[in-house]
Amino acid sequence: MCGIVGYVGSRPVTPLLLDALEKLEYRGYDSAGIAFMADNGIIIHKTRGRIADLRKIVDAATDDDDCTVGIGHTRWATHGEPSDVNSHPHLSRSKRVAVVHNGIIENYIELRHHLEAHGYVFSTETDSEVVSELIDYCYTGGDPVAAVRKAEQQLKGSYALGILFSDFPDQIIALRKDSPLIIGVGEGENFIASDIPAILKHTRSVFRLGERELAILTRKRVTVLDTFGNRVEHPIEHIDWDATAAEKGGYSHFMIKEIFEQPDAIAKTLAPRIKEDMSIDLGFKSITDDDLRGIDSIKITACGSAYHVGVVAKHFLKRILRIPVEAELASEFRYDDPIIDEHTLVIIVSQSGETLDTLYALREAKAHGARVVSIVNVVASSIANESEEVLYTWAGPEIAVATTKAYSTQLALIELFGLYMARVRGMLPEEEIISSIKALQNVPEGVQKLLDDVKSVQYIASLYFNCQDVFFIGRNMDYALSLEASLKLKEISYIHSEAYAAGELKHGTISLIEDGTLVIALCVYRPLLEKMLSNIKEVKARGAKVIAIINDDDVQTGTIADHIIRIPECTDITVPLMTIVPLQLFAYYIASLKGCDIDKPRNLAKSVTVE
Ligand code: G6P
Repeated sequence: MCGIVGYVGSRPVTPLLLDALEKLEYRGYDSAGIAFMADNGIIIHKTRGRIADLRKIVDAATDDDDCTVGIGHTRWATHGEPSDVNSHPHLSRSKRVAVVHNGIIENYIELRHHLEAHGYVFSTETDSEVVSELIDYCYTGGDPVAAVRKAEQQLKGSYALGILFSDFPDQIIALRKDSPLIIGVGEGENFIASDIPAILKHTRSVFRLGERELAILTRKRVTVLDTFGNRVEHPIEHIDWDATAAEKGGYSHFMIKEIFEQPDAIAKTLAPRIKEDMSIDLGFKSITDDDLRGIDSIKITACGSAYHVGVVAKHFLKRILRIPVEAELASEFRYDDPIIDEHTLVIIVSQSGETLDTLYALREAKAHGARVVSIVNVVASSIANESEEVLYTWAGPEIAVATTKAYSTQLALIELFGLYMARVRGMLPEEEIISSIKALQNVPEGVQKLLDDVKSVQYIASLYFNCQDVFFIGRNMDYALSLEASLKLKEISYIHSEAYAAGELKHGTISLIEDGTLVIALCVYRPLLEKMLSNIKEVKARGAKVIAIINDDDVQTGTIADHIIRIPECTDITVPLMTIVPLQLFAYYIASLKGCDIDKPRNLAKSVTVE
């Protein structure tokens, strides 16, 4: 994970780097540091803790007058505990080279031994320190680009690097492989960053550095070179996100802001693809309707909440397409010798488009000749770039580590895709497809209704925020939603929570239910409501307190549950999109009552670019 940033221009560099790092804190926040060019060489400030801690150190130091070139880093520790010394940037012992790194150097131990044999001494437990020393070792002929390329030949793993050379005070060198890096282009100034929000305040003109490309940034120009040293020209993308979309705008946390942005995000994702005559335009260029008719199975692969989208979608797609559909964790998929071929459609789901396991799963799918459609939020991210077809969720930047609006837009989009596929394969009567499309179009309004009245969720949260354990139960689609509801709660509130297929309770987990244990029963999947009622009675009989999530017209469940949350006017296709909303709110209000650091939960990072 980790976030990196770099600037070369004429503005004071330290406030700019600190501000940019704050925008990247979602990527990691256990330590932070900056390096900048001063008259007497490279100066480094770094510390364990947040950017706010680093800011205090930088403010107290007052050694940055007139400095206008620098790099910065916010860390999510992988190798070596969060500590001052393990923080980036790493400055070579010679003080000639400073490096910030996002990724993992897999062969760092081997390289370390090699460099130690040449007299190099290491002071950190990180894999990254080896990069600054290795570049220093390779810096023999006074050519920084040659040194970086020579060092790179020996690196195994993933890396986005920002590099300063004390001999070249007016430039930054950047390099990437399997970790994201964007270049921001300004007037008399240029930027590098792991993600767009870091520099959005300063420039909207960006491009992504390609795999193994190296960029040399000076105030006047950005020169990009491929591995052969040839110049590469990238078209500049104009980012039209509202800059405030990456700010909290009056909300206490990004998470609650993003929950409230869902009606808009879902509408923006669906509307451009649904035409007046109710046709669906996916904008595919390579996969044809004939190709979709030739598909005999679907695999959805992703990580975290994006995987949970896949589990919900699996039920939906199976029901309407009547072909085998599986959802598999990307970290398992790629090592499980998947049975896929050109008749398999692999659907990749990723908010960031940079999750390493998901990216590798995508490559595995392509290597087997599968057809690949990705559902991605970040435009031109690695997964988007490498996919055969991309469906973008137009959710805007998502900052809170715990995803909300990306989840719901992914789900809405995969459902729309399912309807498209059902139509070309003649699997559903046209009237049913049209009514489902219309139902999807009404989702933003339905979600808004739920958001207009959050009091009952707040009240229930106030009764249970001190609980130790929570069990979410459901069947079929409700179980799929339970997975996400449980993850949301545990990741931001640190309350132990688990999701169980309700039918499995009796095979072990029910032994954990005792007086007062909180069970959240999802009861919106109509075909199995009776079964859920039995499961609720079973846990009630053992003393559980039950919050049931029910359909508006359900008159039975309320008579046995302790609390109910009603989901208004749902159809099969809209019910998951609506039901997740009060569950996100429940997690948020519980965490807020507990005083947790909601947007940056401990040990987590938003973009997981390591295996
Ligand atoms: C992290 C985030 C989750 C996200 C998962 C996959 O764990 O905290 O919110 O679901 O990564 O990320 P992706 O960017 O691939 O959707």
